[in-house]
Amino acid sequence: MLGLKVVLLLFSLLLVQAENFYDDNPHIIELTPKSFDRVIHKTNYTTLVEFYAPWCGYCKQLKGTMQKVAKVLDGLVQVATVNCDNPKNKQLCAQNRVQGFPTLIVFRPPKVNLDDVKIKKSIHISETYSGERKLKPIVEFTTSRMKNYVKRLTKLDNLANVILDNRFRYSLILFSKNESVSPLHKSLALDWLGMIDFYVINNNKINTSCTFEVKSHPNITTFIYGLKQSQSSSTKSRLVLFDKINDEYHDFNDSFSNKLSITNFLMKFTDPKEGPLTKRQTFLDRLKLGKENKKKLLEHDEL
Ligand SMILES: *[C@@H]1O[C@H](CO)[C@@H](O)[C@H](O)[C@H]1NC(C)=O
Ligand SMILES: *[C@@H]1O[C@H](CO)[C@@H](O)[C@H](O)[C@H]1NC(C)=O
Ligand SMILES: *[C@@H]1O[C@H](CO)[C@@H](O)[C@H](O)[C@H]1NC(C)=O
Ligand SMILES: *[C@@H]1O[C@H](CO)[C@@H](O)[C@H](O)[C@H]1NC(C)=O
Ligand SMILES: *[C@@H]1O[C@H](CO)[C@@H](O)[C@H](O)[C@H]1NC(C)=O
Repeated sequence: MLGLKVVLLLFSLLLVQAENFYDDNPHIIELTPKSFDRVIHKTNYTTLVEFYAPWCGYCKQLKGTMQKVAKVLDGLVQVATVNCDNPKNKQLCAQNRVQGFPTLIVFRPPKVNLDDVKIKKSIHISETYSGERKLKPIVEFTTSRMKNYVKRLTKLDNLANVILDNRFRYSLILFSKNESVSPLHKSLALDWLGMIDFYVINNNKINTSCTFEVKSHPNITTFIYGLKQSQSSSTKSRLVLFDKINDEYHDFNDSFSNKLSITNFLMKFTDPKEGPLTKRQTFLDRLKLGKENKKKLLEHDEL
């Protein structure tokens, strides 16, 4: 009897030890050999992966920070983890040359050639993070590894060219008070890669003269000429979608920091491949939900 109890105790200890850290976290994907490739490589997003072991002290220390990191990076960079203590994951950890815990690796996508999207390079480059294990440096390092498809414009004249001579019907222009392109803006460009062309032009660059003349697009032309008046001295940013086929422009008038809101606005025109409200997101959410279901099942078993 006592022997059995000891065995049961040992068994439950083992179970506790093998339990994943982030099963309850809605922003973190606990990866398995089955999901790894699709989550990491079949995307234009960058992914931060923590390889950990539940018993390791530094991993326990990092846990709270990782949860915060994942929350901040939500919608910008994928955040995933691999529990290397799980026998199923051992090979995955070995393949990624994980030698100590925790190991943080950032997987960076290859640059997509928009002139020929059929050329598909999909293996992401991995880079081990060796900086401080704190929120800010981890977030900064990771977002700096996002691919940037937002092009910077320096002259008002160029604007007409990029909108009207574009191979894409839609161009999204951010008339910005900022010098830098925000990670949120970069992430939207990823979602609509190959469908909407993204640009940023600083408000103080709008104060240049326009010399172009486009008779075919009176609306867009008038808009651009009017910008010097309306926007060049503005302290506000403005986000405008141009449709060159219909010669129309559409202002986004909601909060610039709300990704879902911008997504809904752009989806009125064309659907994204990644990001909120896509099939890919459903797949990722299901992986996260899967964890919860498993947990619920476990709880039922215990009853
Ligand atoms: C990245 O985006 C391009 C353009 O939309 C697309 O053709 C390609 O399949 C995407 N790459 C991956 C790995 O999803
Ligand atoms: C401008 O920069 C600030 C601070 O870096 C940021 O919070 C804000 O989202 C940026 N605005 C735009 C439109 O990118
Ligand atoms: C040009 O703009 C007007 C109003 O600003 C709009 O009614 C019209 O539909 C636009 N032109 C085209 C070709 O869509
Ligand atoms: C724009 O340029 C004009 C002269 O071309 C100048 O008077 C004006 O101050 C400029 N505005 C800004 C916001 O720089
Ligand atoms: C959106 O903002 C633009 C520029 O600030 C303004 O001209 C337009 O009337 C606004 N549209 C709506 C629907 O509020």
